[in-house]
Amino acid sequence: MAIAKELHHSSAKVKYSVRGEGTPVVLVHGFGEHGSIWEGAANSLSDYKVIIPELPGTGGSDLLPHTTMDSLAGALKQIIEAETTGNEKVILLGHSMGGYVTLAFAAAHPQLLLGFGLVHSSAAADSSEKIETRKKGIDFIRSNGGQAFLKTMLPTLYAPDSKRHHPEWIEQQIADARRFNDEALVVYYKAMMERTDRRDLLKTTNLPVLFLMGRHDGVIKIDDILPQSHLPALSYIHILEQSGHMGMIEEVEETGRVLQEFISFANGNRT
Ligand code: MLT
Repeated sequence: MAIAKELHHSSAKVKYSVRGEGTPVVLVHGFGEHGSIWEGAANSLSDYKVIIPELPGTGGSDLLPHTTMDSLAGALKQIIEAETTGNEKVILLGHSMGGYVTLAFAAAHPQLLLGFGLVHSSAAADSSEKIETRKKGIDFIRSNGGQAFLKTMLPTLYAPDSKRHHPEWIEQQIADARRFNDEALVVYYKAMMERTDRRDLLKTTNLPVLFLMGRHDGVIKIDDILPQSHLPALSYIHILEQSGHMGMIEEVEETGRVLQEFISFANGNRT
């Protein structure tokens, strides 16, 4: 059973949940989704203390005065400090935008980690094309509102077969997205446009790194991520064959199994 908690970071209220006991595992959600996106996968992690934040601006957590991937990572640090004792280290896994935050955290606080993972995420900064697309997205949100934006955007995250056979997954995510305000969505887009390229971190880290990709992901394409997955000294690489960008929904059991395997590996890799 998950316990709901909150703390204050940079004068913002930040919510998160905690369940179970054992090595702490932090699951960071992506853009346009809440911590609840991890519910199904978290069920496979009953041997661990699973911490699921609501990033500032999402799910009842206030926006920070200035949102960057680094400032969001600062909020995670405070949660981790509140939930760990002594020299206890954590495993940090982030979905998409949550992966960008994970990388910012790993760059700033590697000593707090046993390993980290990119779930449908990338260490590269936005390309100039992506920045243009995001600018159009921001204009769309300003003219039509965040709900209309997410209603158009969220279905593109799923594999064609998922859309065909499980429209209820998308409907659920669109329903959950009603809780977003337009400002948070714009702030996240700007923060993603400005984020640092972290491929150098992948080259130098001695922590194990998970790369979990979706065969049909149109947002974070496997052809772009496979070259990154060769950069760390210790990578754990898996492709979800039936998934787009949302493996924790589209292949929940397989995602849970892979996370569990990586965590167990990273946990045994303590130095
Ligand atoms: C996400 O799922 O967090 C976003 O689609 C990531 C992105 O737009 O780069």
